[in-house]
Amino acid sequence: MLESKRVRELLGVDRAIIQAPMAGGITTPDLVAEVSAAGGLGMIAGGSLAPDDLRSLIRETRGRTGRNFGVNLFIPRNFEVTDSDIENAFRLLRPAYDAFGLEQGPVTPAAPGDVREKFDRQLDVVVEEGVPVVSFIFGIPDADQLSRLKSYGIVTLATATTAAEAADIAAAGLDAVILQGAEAGGHRGAHPGTTEDSLTGLMPLISESVKRMDIPVIAAGGIMTGRGIVSAGILGSEGVQMGTAFLAALESGAHPLHKRILTESADIPAVLTKLFTGRQARAVKNRFISEFGMFEDEMTAYPVQRSLTQPFQDASKNAGSPDYAMLLAGQGKQHARHMPAAELIEVLSLEVGELGYDI
Ligand SMILES: Cc1cc2nc3c(=O)[nH]c(=O)nc-3n(C[C@H](O)[C@H](O)[C@H](O)COP(=O)(O)O)c2cc1C
Repeated sequence: MLESKRVRELLGVDRAIIQAPMAGGITTPDLVAEVSAAGGLGMIAGGSLAPDDLRSLIRETRGRTGRNFGVNLFIPRNFEVTDSDIENAFRLLRPAYDAFGLEQGPVTPAAPGDVREKFDRQLDVVVEEGVPVVSFIFGIPDADQLSRLKSYGIVTLATATTAAEAADIAAAGLDAVILQGAEAGGHRGAHPGTTEDSLTGLMPLISESVKRMDIPVIAAGGIMTGRGIVSAGILGSEGVQMGTAFLAALESGAHPLHKRILTESADIPAVLTKLFTGRQARAVKNRFISEFGMFEDEMTAYPVQRSLTQPFQDASKNAGSPDYAMLLAGQGKQHARHMPAAELIEVLSLEVGELGYDI
């Protein structure tokens, strides 16, 4: 028996399996609703959504399941990008635009104040819509934001990439910690003050974190199978959050090329790069990462860099080419299974059961 009762009760689910929030249209209402209906916790990736779009997505998802689901948000951070930084990055990125005959348009980056304002509105939406679970990445909400969420009975989770960050989350009074091991697909959830290069593998991260806190920890990073779930559980995690595994699900909104490459690129590594968005993220290595890697330090900060690379990312996917696309994935990608999300939850539960445990 794995110790998952606290997490199941906290999240109001039958199985301590969270479908990771995945920004970029991947966590469709169908994916989230199917996961929740199958007894796990579906998560809407709200971080990059305009507040009104987030509200619509919550309502649409609620229309498809009466079960609990959650919303994930990005803790805002200051950044500084000048016009000349953008000009310089555009100059270096020119060949990627040329590969698809694209023009480099003017970019008017959102100011840090706009990003904070958007976050406040997103919080309003989750409170007004009565979302039962909210998770955060890239930091911890401040005391006022947290007490507001708690006063509405909303369960709060935050992501940690080191045991010290996990201890900070527990000290701030959140309900559980999501431990993101170095194996994880997508962006590193490092907090301000922690380097994104502090790449602790999931095994030591769980072992060290559980020593330091009493609230439950939920493991993320490279978990693709029942064996992975059990291994994390034996080390002390009380639940799992799986991204890449659900990225491949039938209901995921990931581009077909993105889904296919997970299993078709078994020997191509998923590596860390800041090139696509200005923040370290683990993605399938491709031509863009290989050929532009030397310019990484000359690129702009998150979130500006994302708007500079989006045009050729999209063009690459639409042309059916992985060369310039951001194909976020964890190190376990080759174990992805292309099946409906509810079936995946069933299979995972069976696999855990065959090992003599349950989740
Ligand atoms: C395509 C993709 C998008 C992601 N987007 C988010 C996000 O919006 N918010 C977040 O908290 N985590 C995000 N993550 C990270 C996941 O929460 C989680 O840490 C990771 O998927 C775990 O590793 P795995 O992919 O090996 O299962 C994303 C991961 C992937 C693969």
